Amino acid sequence: MHTVPEIAALLLLSSLTLVNLTAATAPLSDIANAVNSLASETFALKDYVSSVATSSNVGGFPSIYEQLDEIHDNTLSDIGFTSGTPMIQDANDQQVGYESYSNWVQSLFELTDNLTGNAAALISLDHEVSTRMPFEIRIFSGVVNAYLFNLIGLWPTTTAYVAQASNQKNQVDAHFQKALDAYISTGSLNMN
Ligand SMILES: *[C@@H]1O[C@H](CO)[C@@H](O)[C@H](O)[C@H]1NC(C)=O
Repeated sequence: MHTVPEIAALLLLSSLTLVNLTAATAPLSDIANAVNSLASETFALKDYVSSVATSSNVGGFPSIYEQLDEIHDNTLSDIGFTSGTPMIQDANDQQVGYESYSNWVQSLFELTDNLTGNAAALISLDHEVSTRMPFEIRIFSGVVNAYLFNLIGLWPTTTAYVAQASNQKNQVDAHFQKALDAYISTGSLNMN
């Protein structure tokens, strides 16, 4: 059985097969820069989530959702970059690519941990968060999953990067699942 993010990833990948035929290839440095910029946006969102929770800023929710949507949209458009790009053969480029990948993974760990740790606080500010956040997390994690999958495809399978990056991707999936569970279970507790 496929989980929701996996299905989203499969749908994306099947639609990207078409894009593949026409997409211009992007230099690796462009991909690495774009991934690092997704990481910066993700770190910034984590800080913002934390500030909304600690200052009990009910008015901050729309901006949380907007920032999530924006990172989602940027991720989706960056996926086009990887579609026609050949595998990275140069060892230095492989390392540069891996550093940007790890940077984004780290930001995703921190964002999801922050969402998980602040679930009860955020839901107590606005109960709608218990249904809206799982919805947002599912959509966002689907597109992240698809992009990480594509990025892993840029390293030759014989390199150690593939196993390492796949392992990190599994951890990202687990972090998203944990955040999802935190909102769903805390939300249903508060209903009682
Ligand atoms: C959330 O992020 C803030 C600021 O970056 C940090 O101080 C806090 O420890 C984080 N909380 C959790 C639960 O990870």
